[in-house]
Amino acid sequence: MKDFAGKIAFITGGASGAGLGQAQIFSEAGMKVVIADVRQDHLDEAMAYFKAKGAPAHAIKLDVTDRAAYAAAADEVEKVFGSSPDLLVLTAGVNVFGPAEASTYDDYDWVVGVCFGGVVNGLVTFVPRMIKAGKGGYIASTVSWGAFGAGPMTAPYSAAKAAVLNLLESYQIALKPYGIGVSALCPANIRSKIYESALKGRPEQFKNTGYNVTEDTQKLLASIHANGMDPRVLADWLKKGIENEQFLVVPYPSGPRMVEVALERFVDYASPEGMKRLAEKAKQPPTEEANKHNAEREGYDISTSRTPPQAPAGGYVDVGFGKAKSDNTWIDPSKKF
Ligand SMILES: NC(=O)c1ccc[n+]([C@@H]2O[C@H](COP(=O)([O-])OP(=O)(O)OC[C@H]3O[C@@H](n4cnc5c(N)ncnc54)[C@H](O)[C@@H]3O)[C@@H](O)[C@H]2O)c1
Repeated sequence: MKDFAGKIAFITGGASGAGLGQAQIFSEAGMKVVIADVRQDHLDEAMAYFKAKGAPAHAIKLDVTDRAAYAAAADEVEKVFGSSPDLLVLTAGVNVFGPAEASTYDDYDWVVGVCFGGVVNGLVTFVPRMIKAGKGGYIASTVSWGAFGAGPMTAPYSAAKAAVLNLLESYQIALKPYGIGVSALCPANIRSKIYESALKGRPEQFKNTGYNVTEDTQKLLASIHANGMDPRVLADWLKKGIENEQFLVVPYPSGPRMVEVALERFVDYASPEGMKRLAEKAKQPPTEEANKHNAEREGYDISTSRTPPQAPAGGYVDVGFGKAKSDNTWIDPSKKF
């Protein structure tokens, strides 16, 4: 998709962070934007922005896990702007971190429900409508760099994002004949409010977490995200990706090489010699290239700092970030990283 002016964009999670940046950039490209978000306070703030600009925008309060509400939102777009969206951007997401082995069903049901289930619901709701409208179009999702790597503290999140990436690849192949393109945006650190989700955005029915989540851990997370990529810059990367019909958008100068490095580990996983190579690599200090890639992803200047400046010495340990809930009796701290 190269022309955006006059077309309709529907953006989930569009009232904050990455989604709001996307709403702004696509609005500035002349699109009518629908921002769909579960948080009324985020919607109000975002709509005040578009109202002040005099830009055509419409807010819908939507929980992306609610399929009936999703169908109603799709009807609403057709009523308000006269047609199904030309551009669907599935960005709504949440995160929470803690040891994989402490994860509860609620941790999975909530994170996977929003981050993967929300994308499924978006596709099942809108793809038939976009095909029936017969005008082609584009679907993008804000996935995550986490899709390329599993971590001991990120199990539900990384798994959900890896699943979304795989899902989008299927749709990319399936929708090409209909003139509908698909892109997966895979950023690392973004300047956003995602740190609020684990305390303010987690529904009551999924409250039973296995992780230590406190005001202090979320403050630490906030300080990390404060150094993340500006959502507008990220949205520019996505817009360019859409213009070029580029499936994978890793929004860094070294993006393609980062992907190559990330996938190399699977080659090693696939043989006994490779497993030994990986064990050897783990004992070595990070390479210059690894440091450079990390700096690009986390948003710091490698010429002045080797580590993210937002992580104070001992900070993670002091506030118990990424740890199990304090009443956990069976996780052995000596086995933790
Ligand atoms: N912040 C990062 O560092 C980072 C990195 C990689 C990927 N991402 C992804 O980017 C996307 C956007 O997150 P962000 O960082 O901009 O966070 P954010 O919290 O600033 O924005 C996300 C928006 O999604 C909304 N949302 C959450 N659950 C929802 C639901 N069930 N239904 C509808 N809306 C819902 C929130 O209310 C919020 O307004 C997420 O998918 C996230 O996983 C974030």
